[in-house]
Amino acid sequence: MAGNAVGLGNFLRFPAQAAQNGGGAFLIPYLISFLLMGIPLLWVEWAIGRHGGQYGHHSTPGMFDRLGPQRWLKYIGVFGLFTNFTIAAYYTYIESWTLAYVWHSLVGTFSTSDPQTFFPAYLGIHENSLFALPMEALFWFLLTLALNVWILSHGLAKGIEIAAKIGLPLLLIFGAVLAVRGLLLSPGDPGVVQDPMEGLNFVWEPQLAGLTNPTTWLAAAGQVFFTLSVGMGTVHCYAAYVRRNQDIALNASAAGWMNEFVEVILGSSLLIPIATAYLGLQAVQAATAGGSGFSMAFLTLPTLFNNWGAFAPIAGAMWFGLLFFAGITSSLAMGQPIVAFFEDEFGQSRTRASAVFFLSTLILGFVCVWLYPGGSFDEFDYWTGTFALVCFALAEVVLFAYIFGIDRGWEEITRGADMRVPHAFRFVIKYVTPAFILVVFVGSLIKPAGDWSAALLSLTSGAGWPLAPDSVIGKIWHVGVSDYRWFDSDGRGTTHLVQDITRLFLTVLFILCAWLVAAAWRRKAKETRS
Ligand code: ALA
Repeated sequence: MAGNAVGLGNFLRFPAQAAQNGGGAFLIPYLISFLLMGIPLLWVEWAIGRHGGQYGHHSTPGMFDRLGPQRWLKYIGVFGLFTNFTIAAYYTYIESWTLAYVWHSLVGTFSTSDPQTFFPAYLGIHENSLFALPMEALFWFLLTLALNVWILSHGLAKGIEIAAKIGLPLLLIFGAVLAVRGLLLSPGDPGVVQDPMEGLNFVWEPQLAGLTNPTTWLAAAGQVFFTLSVGMGTVHCYAAYVRRNQDIALNASAAGWMNEFVEVILGSSLLIPIATAYLGLQAVQAATAGGSGFSMAFLTLPTLFNNWGAFAPIAGAMWFGLLFFAGITSSLAMGQPIVAFFEDEFGQSRTRASAVFFLSTLILGFVCVWLYPGGSFDEFDYWTGTFALVCFALAEVVLFAYIFGIDRGWEEITRGADMRVPHAFRFVIKYVTPAFILVVFVGSLIKPAGDWSAALLSLTSGAGWPLAPDSVIGKIWHVGVSDYRWFDSDGRGTTHLVQDITRLFLTVLFILCAWLVAAAWRRKAKETRS
């Protein structure tokens, strides 16, 4: 479970989100979201998972089917298939960059060629075409996917657990070595312009300003979702292998807090302090624009490591190696619910189910690799890795508290518990968490461009609500796009074409997942009759 949670989000997304949203101003909304939303959701998901597991279901459609008598419940579980199919695809792609970069660090590529030009070329970003297939990136993606599927095909104990037992300690060791090396930099060293501690202070010094900014809250809540892997269906899946009277309360909290330790302590001590030392804080904030951390991790750090002389290739291999281990233990958790779905609901062998996962991730991942320059990857990340998580989490917490019922729910969370779960969380799960997620949901629909108070003023003065281009409605209506068209004057496809095709593709995929669920239940009904 810790391997599931600790992922690329801890080392790339968190520092970038924190830097983008005012550093210490981000921290308080983030920690409050963790307590009022993250921890309760973890308990809810572990409980739904362990409960479903008693009936032989290790993926969300079957688990949700068991929450109540309503036949539509299993279709809410479709989210847990859809998100894992799609996130696994683009996530495995990022993971494959890290593997490629371990190789390139070790062979010294970044001491001879400029990472600033290497990365765009690697991703297939060219001036004159959005559709050139980047062959090297495709090769590493295939290799990474094959490795994932090979581990998955060995099952939970002999595959995933072994990978986590090797990957997690290694990533912690690599992270600790790099953090110590980075934090010991001082302004007297060659190339160092600022004390790296300034970077750490920026993230860690709590500031109350963020509390009154809804955009900071949205970013903080989004980070909590992604980093804990809640609203995905992965937590449910692993929890389904826990026995009926085994503890889930303490295990869920331990995995959650472990993730926070790695994110807030280790995740903050690498990218930002090292980059601050060499570039200064302002440049770091500029480089994290967009909040994904990719440019800092893949463009900036390899360049900066070159200041470390003979240690540079090792530092690069450790940095990308830790990202790789963080990534693979999470992508395995995304593969397992898919494999389990085909095993449980269609009676397939693990090898066949793993092959289905391989094929589907290959197709979806190929779209991300090929159409990355046109923005397909970002569409996957936005709709499936961000928005779908909020939708699923909102639905599940409401179903858990009101259809399964909070009395049964509380009994499920506390049965066999190795800790005393504070009673207040019963109230939190029933009222606070659903309300919290509902606000996040509505907030992401209508997020305004710029300040919320300015937007309110604009609304009350009759000038309308200025939707942000990255709000859900803004995305759907292509707000802020001045020149919306599918083909340019030379007849070449534009990024708008790629975005719209990707959205259509994802919609069709969601319907296909729902159809698979319907087919599985029809099949079972037929079997029962005969
Ligand atoms: N929880 C995983 C991460 O943070 C998905 O990357």
